[in-house]
Parts: sequence; structure tokens; C-alpha cells
Amino acid sequence: MKQKKKKITILFVCLGNICRSPSAEGIMKQLVLKAGLQEQIIIDSAGILDCHQGKLSDARMRAHATRRGYQLDSKSRPVVSKDFFEFDYIIGMDDRNIADLQSKAIDLESLAKIHRMAEYFGEASLFDHVPDPYYGGADGFETVLDLLEDACKCLLTHVSLDLDK
Ligand code: 4NP
Repeated sequence: MKQKKKKITILFVCLGNICRSPSAEGIMKQLVLKAGLQEQIIIDSAGILDCHQGKLSDARMRAHATRRGYQLDSKSRPVVSKDFFEFDYIIGMDDRNIADLQSKAIDLESLAKIHRMAEYFGEASLFDHVPDPYYGGADGFETVLDLLEDACKCLLTHVSLDLDK
């Protein structure tokens, strides 16, 4: 009998779901596709706020991502209770995201699913979070992409080990 393949689900979360988390989603989807794991590693993103619901990512974020070959086509949506059942990893970009997620978690199992993106940064990183680029300039958007490209590679390695278990 053919064995059903194990699946892992990942939700990236930031404040507005229009800059950092949709970028993480786009970068991770491209890595997963290159690795041929798109049926096993399922990726989505969401925001703490609901005020950008239904909107495409920030135009500045999309422009910077497009220059690196990432298409950001997801639409903003808020985190909902169901996400804590549906996702195995819920990954916040900064301490505020983590605190907000912790306050939304429905039980201990949900709390254990919450991770910081910085857990997956390379050892030499000067950052301990993914800084919010919304009110800053072009450099901030480039920093976000640098950090996320680094972290997503490490996250894929980590999650691939889980798939093999
Ligand atoms: P994000 O950036 O959390 O990376 O999507 C922000 C987007 C919108 C706002 C703040 C941060 N805002 O205040 O509307």
C-alpha cells in the first residue's frame, strides 16, 4: 500500500501582513518549489491587524521582492483561531508579534507552535528580529529580504528533517 506523505504547515505572521510575512511566504514557497516539496510543505501568511484585509502586499515591498525574483501575490488576512489548529509552525517576525500571538493562542499546544523567525537566522546575524520596514526607507525593505532569505533556507533544512522522521 502506498504510504501517505507527511505534511508540514507553516504560517508566517507580522503586524499588517503586507510587508514581512508575505515576503517570507513568497521566499519560502520558491525554496520549497525548488526542492520539489510543495505537496508536503504548505505555506501561508497572516497579520495581527485586520485593517489591510484583502489588500495585496505593500507596493514598495513588492517592488523590492520582484527585483530578487519573488512574486508576492497573497492578500492580507488576520490570524484567526483556526490557524492554531491548521498550522504546525506559527512564526512571528518580532517580539510584539510573538506577544500578540501568545495572547491569541487557545491552549498549550498552540503556544508551543509559536516561533520567532530569528530562531532560524545564521549564527553571525547582527539581528534578533525582522524589523518592521513600513515607516522607513528602501534599506529597510532590503534588510527584510536579506534576513528572510537567510532564515528561510535554515527553516527549510529544519523542516525537511521533520519530514524524514
Ligand atoms: P508588516 O508591516 O507588519 O511587515 O506587514 C506593517 C504594515 C502595516 C502597518 C505596520 C507594519 N500598519 O501600521 O498599518
